[in-house]
Amino acid sequence: MNPRVLQNGRLLPAMEKVLVDEFAAHRLADEPDRAAFLAAHGGEFTALVTSARFGADAAMLAAMPALEAICSFGVGYDTIDIDAARRRGIAVSNTPDVLNDCVADIAFGLLIDVARGLSASDRFVRRGDWLKGAFPLQTRVSGKRLGILGLGRIGQVIAKRAAGFDMEVRYHNRRPVAGAPYAYEATLDGLAQWSDFLVVASAGGSETRHLVSADVIAALGPDGYLINIARGSVIDEAALVDALANKRIAGAGLDVFEDEPKVPAALFALDNVVLLPHIGSGTRETRQAMADLTLANLRSFLAHGTLLTAVA
Ligand code: 8YV
Repeated sequence: MNPRVLQNGRLLPAMEKVLVDEFAAHRLADEPDRAAFLAAHGGEFTALVTSARFGADAAMLAAMPALEAICSFGVGYDTIDIDAARRRGIAVSNTPDVLNDCVADIAFGLLIDVARGLSASDRFVRRGDWLKGAFPLQTRVSGKRLGILGLGRIGQVIAKRAAGFDMEVRYHNRRPVAGAPYAYEATLDGLAQWSDFLVVASAGGSETRHLVSADVIAALGPDGYLINIARGSVIDEAALVDALANKRIAGAGLDVFEDEPKVPAALFALDNVVLLPHIGSGTRETRQAMADLTLANLRSFLAHGTLLTAVA
């Protein structure tokens, strides 16, 4: 009997068509009672296709005793119970590298926007305020100090882009990256103190939750900017909101939040923060490449029992 594929959450329409046409995938989102469906039929599926947004939690894995592979659309897999998957020998794939450039582009888009007040000045013009006076002076980007939390695939692309702005780069990781041409800061506090701009590019999950604490935000200081293109969970969001509202940091550029799609309303009126709806990889080209890689992983597993970009 053909292996049965279950789709968790909604995916790109073209990708969903392939999942149905080529794999006869069943879409869990179509079930009125997903828990009841999984309880009755979860054991029929050997492969699960999901995304960084929808993941696969412990309850879902427990309801799928025959599951052999999870193919996830997205590079982050903090929404997948990876420990449970590893314990059960379930192979897990993500979609690394194909989205590095677009996410790094958004990191710099946020950095330049918040430092130079691009979104704020656009609102200024649209409100007619230019008729009343000049937009206030902002902060230079070129030649400044760029700190990167998490010098992984995306962090390294961000660091490369910094050269175009003559920015000095330092980074903090759990351990130094072999061969990295940037200075390593052994503590995140130390990196924050040094940085004019601190970019969060680390993985999400329990190990990095609130790594950017109130103390790290204080170390960044009133002239510092915080950029997050990783996961909202990495920053103590309540502490960040308080620091922005009280100008204890100069500004922030945020593409991710702790409780998406909800964003703290206290941020809406502030001109020292730029708010994006998790669009880092959100281009037609990159999302298609992510879909192609997800499907390639699924095909590889069903044909050969191995994944192309396995994380577990
Ligand atoms: C998501 C992301 O893939 O790749 C990631 O980890 O956060 C995004 O690119 C996208 O939001 C779909 O879930």
